Amino acid sequence: MKIRETFLPFNKPSITATEIAAVTEVLESGWITTGAKCKEFEEEFCRLTSTNYAISLTSATAGMHITLLALGIGEGDEVITPSMTFASTVNMIALLGAKPVFVDIEYGTLNMDARKVEAAITPRTKAIIPVHFAGAPAEMNLITAIAERQGIAVIEDAAHAVGTYYLGKHIGAQSKAAIFSFHPIKNITSGEGGMVVTNDAELERKLRLLRFHGIERDAWKRYGKGGNPEYDIAIPGFKYNLTDIHAALGLAQLRRLEYFNTRRSQLVALYRGGLATVSGIELPESPGYEHRDACHLFIVKVLAMGREAFMARLADYNIGYGLHFSPAHSLSYIKQRFGQDDTLLPETVRAADKIISLPLFPDMSEDDVAYVCSAIREILQ
Ligand SMILES: Cc1ncc(COP(=O)(O)O)c(C=O)c1O
Repeated sequence: MKIRETFLPFNKPSITATEIAAVTEVLESGWITTGAKCKEFEEEFCRLTSTNYAISLTSATAGMHITLLALGIGEGDEVITPSMTFASTVNMIALLGAKPVFVDIEYGTLNMDARKVEAAITPRTKAIIPVHFAGAPAEMNLITAIAERQGIAVIEDAAHAVGTYYLGKHIGAQSKAAIFSFHPIKNITSGEGGMVVTNDAELERKLRLLRFHGIERDAWKRYGKGGNPEYDIAIPGFKYNLTDIHAALGLAQLRRLEYFNTRRSQLVALYRGGLATVSGIELPESPGYEHRDACHLFIVKVLAMGREAFMARLADYNIGYGLHFSPAHSLSYIKQRFGQDDTLLPETVRAADKIISLPLFPDMSEDDVAYVCSAIREILQ
């Protein structure tokens, strides 16, 4: 086959004149940091997720940091999470002095195996952090039932899950908190950014304090006409507030979410069709329970050759790729500091060196997908 001349990236955000106009409007408005746009973004996120509170932040990592902190997780505590996740979660657990306890995944879906959670619980366990992996929901009914029985909080890592539905409902309302990411490769982007949703009023209050220096009131209210610029600090906090510039971009993207995710699922269907008869590769499985997949990533497992060689061949064909993820328990400092035994994570280990994320983004064309499928067929022949 003929090699394409232009590089097909693994991901590219879809930015139209609408997003540019929304950002320009904020830039010209005279107020560019946290303000009315962040509030609107938060309100629309509450509607999407059917939750009472949404707190916008500079990243999902920031959201994870202050959610763990607000729930009092620290020295001596244990937090259960899959090893097949982004290291940011584990970094936050470790930085607070707690210990990550890794649970295995289901090989087919790469989602945390809810049936293995209970065995990982000890008297020190304070939270369970399932990941809605690649846009498919974790088995929340099982996870929340275990957590409720044991009096443990569930924090959903929803970084991949804007537009993920589980048993007919958008994920996020079934736990203590759910944390979304708007990093540029995510289903919607605000440049960088994140959102924590919760139904817990006390948690919301703490998160708002921790997000902005521990100051009780929002700056934009303090600096408005007739506002009182005095402030008090209730607890020491961080500087994790999103700006209205980012929120305007995020809002414009959120209003295109249905289009984005429909398009993503069409592209995934094309991939599945195009790769169905290619041997030497395994396609991702879908969870057996009712759900709508946000199709954040399309991750295949390469069986017929080493992943490194496969990636090099994709590069020859001018095709980009991603890796989600190098298992957290295998990363240097995590291994040295927490040293979880590989034998407890057999499916994670089995999948780890085979997984590769293929290009997937709404502005990809049908021809792009067909090209990737043909290239893979040729590479593996
Ligand atoms: C599973 C998962 N959790 C958390 C994050 C962190 O998101 P952010 O980059 O917004 O901090 C990511 C981002 O890649 C992720 O993939």
